[in-house]
Amino acid sequence: MKKLLITGASGFLGWYLGQQAQSEWQVFGTYRDRPLTQSGITPIPLDLTDSSALRQVMQTLHPDAVIHAAAQAKPNLCETQPEESYRINVTASCNLAEECAAADIPCVLISTDLVFDGLNPPYREGDCVSPLSRYGEQKVAAEQQMRAHYPAVTVCRMPLMFGNAPVDSFLQPFLRTLRSGQALKLFTDEFRTPVSGAIAAQGILLALATRPALLHLGGRERLSRYQFGELMVEAFDLPKTQLLPCRQADVPMAAPAPPMSPSTVPSPSRWATTPPPSNPNSLSSPTANC
Ligand SMILES: NC(=O)c1ccc[n+]([C@@H]2O[C@H](COP(=O)([O-])OP(=O)(O)OC[C@H]3O[C@@H](n4cnc5c(N)ncnc54)[C@H](OP(=O)(O)O)[C@@H]3O)[C@@H](O)[C@H]2O)c1
Repeated sequence: MKKLLITGASGFLGWYLGQQAQSEWQVFGTYRDRPLTQSGITPIPLDLTDSSALRQVMQTLHPDAVIHAAAQAKPNLCETQPEESYRINVTASCNLAEECAAADIPCVLISTDLVFDGLNPPYREGDCVSPLSRYGEQKVAAEQQMRAHYPAVTVCRMPLMFGNAPVDSFLQPFLRTLRSGQALKLFTDEFRTPVSGAIAAQGILLALATRPALLHLGGRERLSRYQFGELMVEAFDLPKTQLLPCRQADVPMAAPAPPMSPSTVPSPSRWATTPPPSNPNSLSSPTANC
């Protein structure tokens, strides 16, 4: 079996990627703070901001492909710790792209729909980026700089993801709040196109196989956080009275939030009706027409 290296395998998305990739790949996963105990995955401790440690892993392991999911993925932390988050989100990503270029292997960067300001949703791959937060800016920088280092990099822009992995996503803290009997306030004016981690991982592995330049992997349905919460209380049979609507303006946040958060147009719906494009160049590049 060929070797796949997943960075950020100890994270939420990394868990789903590790689960699904195992049937096709011998999977190696990096972690930094949270030990990786997922069965079938060979754990590799690695701080990706240490460029010589990264080089050593790449040159010792010789992976056949890389999915780069590691990041500081919390927008508020990127806002309050801009230099530290830049080191993992941008600098380390560029170093990884260089390593993949030197080895001439496929590399997928996991990016976000927060590269858009949300003012003109839905967004397609050819639309110009317009990040509002440092997190969004860092992801744009990673997309552009990784592809400058290695034009064969595939960028997958992900929406909000949910699922019951043994690693927290935004869903688990919500459930804990409701189960403890506390009220949960959710935005009625932030819209996303959520997908489950399992479906997201399938899309990413398909992108790894087909290698488009850029892919929006948004879900098909556009929901506010509050609407998502309504579905959640129904699915988990929790009391609806604890769910309270609120607006973004009601909650002070470090990271500027779009008035209407972005929803990327679901390329997956295209995939659902037609096969993935046979020509990888038929999709726009991350900086097309901008
Ligand atoms: N979750 C979402 O809804 C969502 C939406 C859009 C895009 N994304 C993107 O999807 C990717 C995965 O997100 P996620 O939700 O799975 O994030 P997560 O659960 O917070 O996991 C982040 C991963 O990155 C690793 N990491 C962070 N800093 C590192 C460093 N310096 N060196 C090595 N590893 C480091 C973490 O390792 P340790 O925990 O072991 O330290 C962890 O494995 C990210 O690129 C994120 O921007 C996520």
